[in-house]
Amino acid sequence: MALIGFSSAAFSETNNNKTPSEVTGHKILVAFFSWGGTTKQIAENIVKHTGGTLFRIETVKPYPTEYKTCTEVAREERDKGVRPELKTVVEDMDEYDIVFVGCPVWWHTAPMAIWSFLKSDNYDFSGKTIIPFCTYEETYRDETLAKIVELTPNSKHLDGFGTIDKNADVTNWLNEIGVITVNN
Ligand SMILES: Cc1cc2nc3c(=O)[nH]c(=O)nc-3n(C[C@H](O)[C@H](O)[C@H](O)COP(=O)(O)O)c2cc1C
Repeated sequence: MALIGFSSAAFSETNNNKTPSEVTGHKILVAFFSWGGTTKQIAENIVKHTGGTLFRIETVKPYPTEYKTCTEVAREERDKGVRPELKTVVEDMDEYDIVFVGCPVWWHTAPMAIWSFLKSDNYDFSGKTIIPFCTYEETYRDETLAKIVELTPNSKHLDGFGTIDKNADVTNWLNEIGVITVNN
């Protein structure tokens, strides 16, 4: 798989005022869905190290704030294949060539809001590089990352990242997949 690294020397010596994504020439979007804040924190960390743009995937109808009720709503949506309406749109999606897509594991897979986002008529992900990430408590990390890949069949993909730790270090992973080449 092709790497998308940038030169750390060029970054430090001649591009002091530019973000990493400007230096690489890649425009990076970090789209995430988060109910409790864990995935949000990982997304913010990815932004910090890549210079990408943060985008929160939010549903028009908010999920219940009480955990058990939320799990019930989420389960019913999953079982019925409901694609909840989303609140906001990425107006300039065409400009991004790398899109991180992150979410918590919900009932062994990605929340239905991820279906809504990735299958939205507003976007064409073909040819873009999609990089999945997720947070979870115990199980179905790999299945959730794989689901994001499955939902974007015409995109390129780089290896995803899943963690149970909201403070997890993302730099090793970002280095491994070639999006950054230093701990910037
Ligand atoms: C509706 C719902 C379903 C969940 N299902 C799973 C699951 O199948 N496997 C798992 O390991 N964690 C599951 N969890 C736990 C979350 O994936 C985990 O707490 C995650 O880090 C929360 O991310 P967030 O704070 O960004 O919402 C579930 C949580 C909720 C609310």
